[in-house]
Amino acid sequence: MFDKKQFGNDFKWGVSTAAYQIEGAHLSDGKGHSIWDKFSNQPKKIFKGHNGNHACDFYNKYRDDLQLMKYLNIPNFRFSLAWSRILPNGTGHANQKGIDFYNKLIDQSLEFGIEPWVTLYHWDLPQALENKGGWTNREVVGWFSDYAELCAKQFGDRVKNWMVLNEPMVFTGAGYFLGVHAPGRKGLRNFIPAVHHAALSQSVIAKIIKDICPLSNVGTTFSCSHLEPNTSSDKDRLATIKVDALINRLFIEPSLGLGYPTSDIKLLDRIYKYFLPNDEHLLKHDFDFVGIQNYTREIVTHSYFVPLLNAKFIKAEKRKVPITLMNWEVYPDALYQILKKYSAYPQIKKIIVTENGAAFHDTIFDGKVNDELRTSYLKSHIGEVLRAKNDGVNVGGYFVWTFTDNFEWAEGFYPRFGLVHTNFKTQERTVKQSGYWYKEFLQ
Ligand code: FCB
Repeated sequence: MFDKKQFGNDFKWGVSTAAYQIEGAHLSDGKGHSIWDKFSNQPKKIFKGHNGNHACDFYNKYRDDLQLMKYLNIPNFRFSLAWSRILPNGTGHANQKGIDFYNKLIDQSLEFGIEPWVTLYHWDLPQALENKGGWTNREVVGWFSDYAELCAKQFGDRVKNWMVLNEPMVFTGAGYFLGVHAPGRKGLRNFIPAVHHAALSQSVIAKIIKDICPLSNVGTTFSCSHLEPNTSSDKDRLATIKVDALINRLFIEPSLGLGYPTSDIKLLDRIYKYFLPNDEHLLKHDFDFVGIQNYTREIVTHSYFVPLLNAKFIKAEKRKVPITLMNWEVYPDALYQILKKYSAYPQIKKIIVTENGAAFHDTIFDGKVNDELRTSYLKSHIGEVLRAKNDGVNVGGYFVWTFTDNFEWAEGFYPRFGLVHTNFKTQERTVKQSGYWYKEFLQ
């Protein structure tokens, strides 16, 4: 086993959350609707008709939760701001009560010695902006800029760590191509412009934060899965290259000045239709850190039946490997491989693992949750971070997804990822064995 000292004193340990997944209070104190408020209250969108209207009631319980975080020795807390709590219509009139909430949250965190790490956009676009086209409308870059400027001015005196986007590939892919996440739109004609506007936003907004708060630490986050071809055949290898370009390289490479990986995935060529003359330049930004979020590996095979991509994943259940409740393979080496992959880009200064964790069946028995599988998942993955660090990867932090069990998007309340168990009826919190393990590790 390893201990915390081996990672060095500057290494940032924390937990990650997102506003819509924990806050609840979906209509309180002047908050506007977000695309997730609308989507999750429609029939048949979410597992068993769940919605995030109340979630973990973090809006009212934030103080108790922060107290518990402090008790678990967790020094860094990643949370997101709900855009529609601050600007109910996405632009224009600001909601003072929403701003007050985040001021209280930030102040209370600092008072407990917990450093806030703020994500500006974790998927909950104000519905008023979606009504104007959402991410498919280029004006979103301007709307987002105004919102970011307001946040930097309001909170930047105390918040030093910022992330612009959470996993742009997931919110554009699931929300604008597959239609399984909010706002539920489908097809390339929605996906491609959404991708370009999200990629532009990540760099434009990072510069705005940096201008207003020059000493801050500004990054953005990416979903990434380690990929392996099913066989060594040319077809499977080519399929893997295409999927890699789409899910691992699409958003990072334009920010590094490498452009979109269109040579490896032709279907993206149509993105240039949405380019204005200065875009190549606007897409670039020298981030202080890059957040990577890895949960698993995927095995890729060639498929005639998947149009344009001609590639698909071989599901983990089919491969008879250990899986989590998300049907994601438990494969710790994936995190090591991803860290190596991203550190191979010389332009990346620092990497932080801004999410990693697992959902398993948890049961409370005698007031205890013995989530051994999660504890071992976390230990093995943290071990891989250390291996990468010892191999020279500049990885500066690790955040567990997540603190309390919460609303897991289209899967509703079914997959529990928390270090702390949430009883969604009573809002009672019970620290799991994994939470006690993290506490001891962080001591
Ligand atoms: C990531 C999301 C996060 C959470 C985890 C399980 O893709 O960023 O909100 O749902 O997956």
